[in-house]
Amino acid sequence: MKILGTGSVLPKKIVTNDDLSKFLDTSDEWITTRTGIKKRHVISDEKLEDMAAEAALKALEMAGKKPEDMDLFICSNVVNEYVTPSLACVVSEKIGVKCGCYDINCACPGFLFALDMADSYYKAGKAKNILIVCADEPSRMCDWTDRSTCVLFGDGAGAVVLGEGDNVLATKINSQPNVDKLWETRILESTPYINKMELNMPLQMKGKDVFKFAVSASTTEVVALLDSIGMKKEDVGYYIVHQANMRIIDAIKNFLGEPEEKFPTNIADHGNSSSASCLILLDECNRRGLFKKDDILVFSAFGAGLLSAAAIVRW
Ligand code: COA
Repeated sequence: MKILGTGSVLPKKIVTNDDLSKFLDTSDEWITTRTGIKKRHVISDEKLEDMAAEAALKALEMAGKKPEDMDLFICSNVVNEYVTPSLACVVSEKIGVKCGCYDINCACPGFLFALDMADSYYKAGKAKNILIVCADEPSRMCDWTDRSTCVLFGDGAGAVVLGEGDNVLATKINSQPNVDKLWETRILESTPYINKMELNMPLQMKGKDVFKFAVSASTTEVVALLDSIGMKKEDVGYYIVHQANMRIIDAIKNFLGEPEEKFPTNIADHGNSSSASCLILLDECNRRGLFKKDDILVFSAFGAGLLSAAAIVRW
């Protein structure tokens, strides 16, 4: 497959670290030093499905494809207002996509899980033109009185259209199941028969453990995946790393011994937008003309599960 088009959409409301320090015991200095985040876009009056649809249309336009050309549509999402149908169905109705579609919930590395699936469909001859949309609103998962989580996240949607080509060189998905590190639960509708304890808990995170997992999973997987196709780090043009924390990105960069210019980032402006993060960054870099033909892009992402994944794409 080949990436034919990219798109992204951010909510219009921008919340700075100083805005947060007005109602939280935090500061611009703490958030900037510990995370690299200066501001984030959060949903106010937007609907996530509208942002997802707009991102998809932007990617389709760049790809020169119509919604009805798609053979498969995979949507990565953790939560949205619809329990059913899937966000993929809601977006399909909005933009006129008519192929089989479904949601995956693979948290922050969702784009790379979707890419891995898309690659398998393509190689099996079951789909040629594939739409992937990653849309997440983690701001709606946090307790906004909990300074250790809510300062980290922003909302957004990203999309790619994939078509015929041989540019997806390798993908690998992984898990180290450990629910306790990053989780959220919600209470479902009651019934006359429910007699168990259920909890409505906003996002809970063991930050230091997630940090260590992210750095170790990413570095191990990037090295192994490059090795699996006989590539060296010198062959890599850019690393598109999940934008969770600038210190995580720096640690990965230092471990790999790679220069800063190979690591484009947007975390300062957007925070962590879960599975949308890699695609928003990809689209921003693409639209400003950063990538040249044949550049090697290495993707790496990690998150709740604990899940992680990597991919290598020739531009
Ligand atoms: N402002 C000010 N102080 C804060 C704060 C905030 N927003 N959040 C936490 N603190 C405080 C803590 O309460 C703690 O205080 P204490 O020492 O009095 O107990 C202190 O800062 C240090 O907290 P700690 O958790 O040790 O900080 P840290 O250096 O590990 O940084 C994270 C915290 C969350 C930024 C960091 O662990 C991290 O980014 N982890 C990865 C999280 C992530 O990316 N998750 C998503 C993955 S997809």
